[in-house]
Amino acid sequence: MIYCRTPEEIEKIRRSGCLVREILEDLGELAKPGVSPLELERVAEERIEKAGGRPAFKGYRGYPNCLCVSVNDQIVHGIPTARRFEEGDLVSLDLGVVIDDYFGDSALTVPVGEIRDSARKLLDVTRESLERGLEKARIGNRLSDISWAVQEHAEEKNGFFVVREFVGHGIGTNLHEEPQIPNFGKPGRGPTLKEGMVLAVEPMVNEGTSKVKILSDQWTAVTADGGYSAHFEHIVAVTKNGPQVLTSLNHF
Ligand code: MF3
Ligand code: CO
Repeated sequence: MIYCRTPEEIEKIRRSGCLVREILEDLGELAKPGVSPLELERVAEERIEKAGGRPAFKGYRGYPNCLCVSVNDQIVHGIPTARRFEEGDLVSLDLGVVIDDYFGDSALTVPVGEIRDSARKLLDVTRESLERGLEKARIGNRLSDISWAVQEHAEEKNGFFVVREFVGHGIGTNLHEEPQIPNFGKPGRGPTLKEGMVLAVEPMVNEGTSKVKILSDQWTAVTADGGYSAHFEHIVAVTKNGPQVLTSLNHF
């Protein structure tokens, strides 16, 4: 079942969501040539602890870290390593925390120094696709209206490829709750959105193919053709006043 959260619960999710986003945006600034994913992991862990939270990903289905760092052709679930970023890398950062039993989860992609134009385009289109999806999180809309808004922008309008294997999700007192939120599909399908639903929308968009491979670490998902991939994630609450993004201070 899909939970409808009270305004008090939504504020708790917002608290976790804001912490996640604050840390993520700072990590994005730190992602310069010469810095390693493991260094970002350490910063994330320290910041979560200092704020009185707990990392949501560490130990989740055996995931070993607080942070996912996915570079270039890595789509999601990259395990932080000591390999240093280089100029031109496209770095996706994904972080989750729990405060007071409520979860926050968000992701963003940043360029390391100057990146090629097509990588910049991919990054911009993925962020715009997420924004178009979030805009559909309105009372009375159907769940797949979100999915279609993402797919239409990424694929139909811009010629990129949406990943099918990984989807967005409900979130609240668990990291992953119902419903699953695909980033593709015809509009007008699935559950009708109701006041209090809280949804993590997270398009993963690839340059050249939607096909995915999993590396031998059993976590890191990469594009089948080696093309670049970008990932953005926000949590949105369906409210009487329209979509409320809970992972940002100044959004909608
Ligand atoms: N944002 C991703 C998700 O919601 C991150 C999960 S990573 C894991 O699925 F490490 F926790 F598995
Ligand atoms: Co998520």
